[in-house]
Formats: sequence, C-alpha cells, structure tokens
Amino acid sequence: MQAESLSFVHRFEPGDAGLPPVLLLHGTGGDEADLLPLGRAVAPGAPLLSPRGAVSENGAPRFFRRLAEGVFDEDDLRRRTDDLADFVAAARSRYGLEAPLALGFSNGANIAAATLLQRPETLAGAVLIRPMVPFATPPRPDLAGKPVLILSGAMDPIVPVENARRLAGQLEAGGAAVTHRMLPAGHGLSQAEIGLAAAWIAALPAPAAA
Ligand code: MLT
Repeated sequence: MQAESLSFVHRFEPGDAGLPPVLLLHGTGGDEADLLPLGRAVAPGAPLLSPRGAVSENGAPRFFRRLAEGVFDEDDLRRRTDDLADFVAAARSRYGLEAPLALGFSNGANIAAATLLQRPETLAGAVLIRPMVPFATPPRPDLAGKPVLILSGAMDPIVPVENARRLAGQLEAGGAAVTHRMLPAGHGLSQAEIGLAAAWIAALPAPAAA
C-alpha cells in the first residue's frame, strides 16, 4: 500500500527531525529538483519532501489539469488533491515525518491551497507564493490555528489582487492564522521574498509547526 501510495516521483532530503519538514510544490514546468534550493534557503536543516506534479501539459509537469490559464478543471483538482494528500501520508510513514509545512509556487501554491481546503489534516501550515482561489465553491475546513503566509504580487498578470485576497479570506474563515503580504512584484519569485519566507518560518511557534 505504501509503495502504491508513494506513486509521485519525488526527492526526499533528510534533515533535523526537530524541525518541521517542508513539502515543496513546484510551478508549471518545474520538477522535483526545482525548489530544493529554495527549501534549503528558507528552512535550513529541515527535511525536504519534493514531489513532481503527475499531470503533463504539453510536457510541462503540473499538479492538476487546467482548461485555460487560471481556469481549473476542478474535478481533476479534487482528485489530484486527494492523490497528493495520500502521498504525503504515505511519505510521512515511510520517512518518519511530522505533518509538513507546504512551500508552493504558482501551480504548486494552488494545489497547496486546495489541500488546506480539502484535506486540511495533511499540512501543518503553508507558504503560498502567488496562489489563487482553487475552487469556485470552496469546502469549509477546520483550519484552526494553522499558520499560512501568502505572498502575492501587486503586478501579477495571472492572479488579480482581488482573487488573492479572496483566498486569504477563505482560509481565515476556516480559522487559519493568515499573513498576506502584497509585494511590488509580478508572478515571478523575487529575491526579497525568500528572506520574508525564511523569517516567517523561523518565527513559527513550535506547537503550531508540529
Ligand atoms: C495554475 O494553472 O495553477 C495557475 O494558472 C498558475 C500557473 O501554473 O501558471
């Protein structure tokens, strides 16, 4: 069962068992190697679990299908969210991990947001870089006390500011402790926010991160 559930191609880097593990979720066209340097930079010494999205969009790996840019195939998203949550559960058991903190960029941030909404027990919290609302009608999960950092770009051509604010509101409605930073940036990751994410993770209270 475990071998079947560990169906995502992935990389695992062991780390300090006293630190919350980090689940790295790449953007469209990335892979399991992509965010390892970012993970090492924002959570030094933490165990890193990095799957490759199982959907191929003209050869570009993604975590779920989309109908157009910013228009999601929500049936597929729901199924892929369950697949990812099951993978994380199996990987935790195989590698002896606490519930991870997700660190997702773009498409990876979107499936991390979907996981918080649909399978909240999977994650201890999340850093969402350039996420958008994943579900037209979101589930109403219990996210009490889960820390979430959202890093949005004020000039993002893919994610309207209003959409990112709506996602923050949906997570807050479930009780998540959301910090939403609107940065003078587009859709791409900027150097400044690596420091912001690192400082936010370092300041997490131990029980919330466990
Ligand atoms: C998505 O499809 O998840 C978003 O449009 C972000 C992207 O991957 O470009």
